[in-house]
Amino acid sequence: MATQASPSMNLESKSSKLLKDLLASGRPILYIMTAEEQRVSRLLREGAQNFFAAPLPYWSWSLTDGLIDPNGIKSEHDTTNPRAALDFIANYQGPAIFHMKDFHDALHEAVVVRRIRDLYELCFGQSKFVVISSPIRFIPEEISRNIVYIELNIPDFNEIKTFLEEQATAIVAKGGTVDTSEETLIHMTRALQGLTLDEAGFAIHRAVAGTGHLGMDSLPVLFEEKRLLVNRSGTIQYIADGAKIETVGGLEVMKKWLLERRQLFLMRDSIGAELVPKGVLVMGVSGCGKSLSVKAVASCFELPLYRIDMTEIFSGRHGNPEWAFARACRTMEAIAPAVVWFDEIEMGITSAESSGEQGRIFAFFLTWMQEKVRGLFVAATANRIDLLPAEMIRKGRFDEVFFVDIPMDEERIEILNIHLKRRGIDPTGFGVERMTKLTKGWTGAECEQCVVSAVTRAKLENREMTLEDLLRTAGNIVPLSRTMKEQVDHIRSWARDRAAPASLGDHR
Ligand SMILES: Nc1ncnc2c1ncn2[C@@H]1O[C@H](COP(=O)(O)OP(=O)(O)O)[C@@H](O)[C@H]1O
Ligand SMILES: [Mg+2]
Repeated sequence: MATQASPSMNLESKSSKLLKDLLASGRPILYIMTAEEQRVSRLLREGAQNFFAAPLPYWSWSLTDGLIDPNGIKSEHDTTNPRAALDFIANYQGPAIFHMKDFHDALHEAVVVRRIRDLYELCFGQSKFVVISSPIRFIPEEISRNIVYIELNIPDFNEIKTFLEEQATAIVAKGGTVDTSEETLIHMTRALQGLTLDEAGFAIHRAVAGTGHLGMDSLPVLFEEKRLLVNRSGTIQYIADGAKIETVGGLEVMKKWLLERRQLFLMRDSIGAELVPKGVLVMGVSGCGKSLSVKAVASCFELPLYRIDMTEIFSGRHGNPEWAFARACRTMEAIAPAVVWFDEIEMGITSAESSGEQGRIFAFFLTWMQEKVRGLFVAATANRIDLLPAEMIRKGRFDEVFFVDIPMDEERIEILNIHLKRRGIDPTGFGVERMTKLTKGWTGAECEQCVVSAVTRAKLENREMTLEDLLRTAGNIVPLSRTMKEQVDHIRSWARDRAAPASLGDHR
């Protein structure tokens, strides 16, 4: 794709670079928290081959097999006992990498902890490394300063692409066919971004299973697998809605702005960082098209859309909210390029217990907005904007803050037309303009509801829908702006001085 800095074979992945830096620093004991043990193994093997002037032997250890040497042969002594394994490492001559799988359990033993401290001294500066991998973090206090702890982020574009190329070779070896043109590989890698390598492998197998072929026509299967797998994380949801910008009625100012940003965003790799659009905050009255607009942004920017569920983040079901939020943000960086949507971002403010925690989460968010990778466009939406901290709205955080108000006369007509068309009704000559007065103060959602009710009524009576149906249905709709007048007025007056109107003119 034109926007991707032309990827060549085996570009270094972020994880690989991180590992390289850590090993180069000479600290001999690493603790990697991850559920992807296989991937750590791959990364370490590759690192052992490539990071040093001469390749290092790669040993692995597990409770069931003990130590296994670089040729895949079990050690002649029984080293299933963690203490015995550490003794072996202590006496081992020369540089090597020892990958200790699930070693966290052994760290409950005082003698093992003691031995780790000895190893730290013995291995320091010797190019002899002990790398513990585990799905949980358990580091006894006594050795916390001897151990470098990292959490492995999900694989990035380059790591997935390399993996995909290996999988392609394996598929071909088994008699399948793969379209390995660079363009197809890039599309497939994009489709798999956001998954662990295990998950990516699983998705690839699913795609190949039916046809024995992997290529452009496998993309829908890959995307569907991703939707299922990413959604399982609980805090991030992959949205495959694809609403087009033409389905958003009114909001001309915001739409024009988005189309301009689109140009800049597509040029992101060739222009200065300060010019690359970072994101937009859309606030305003409920039901007026904020969520719809965000979906349109994604399809307009030709990017996948991910929604971060603030209610889930704050629920505590995914661990400490601060941690869950930071993890979701980091995951998104690995998935980039994408649009990341923080829906009803003020949720955090109304449902969190401690205000200290909220403050920290918002501070983290704003810093992250400034530092995040170029390929992520942030779209945040908010209903109760008066709850947002002032620094969120201040210029420079988001590229623009839009206020979406109750639609104006022409906007409502446009919205009614859009929804009529969507239901297969040609609105030309229908006289929808006659709805202008009746629909004053309605939200976009209410306009849609009116169309749906009228269409349903006609269907039930087995006839074509008429303007009469619309007019009659309209009489039964009590708009939110009337039932919740005070709240709507409050939001409006609050936003007027603080945000740019998303629509032209001010005629309400
Ligand atoms: N400006 C609009 N143009 C077209 N449809 C709209 C508009 N505003 C609202 N709608 C309809 O109402 C539904 C709900 O709107 P939504 O975007 O979820 O509102 P919000 O996020 O602002 O609460 C949309 O899915 C869409 O069908
Ligand atoms: Mg919404």
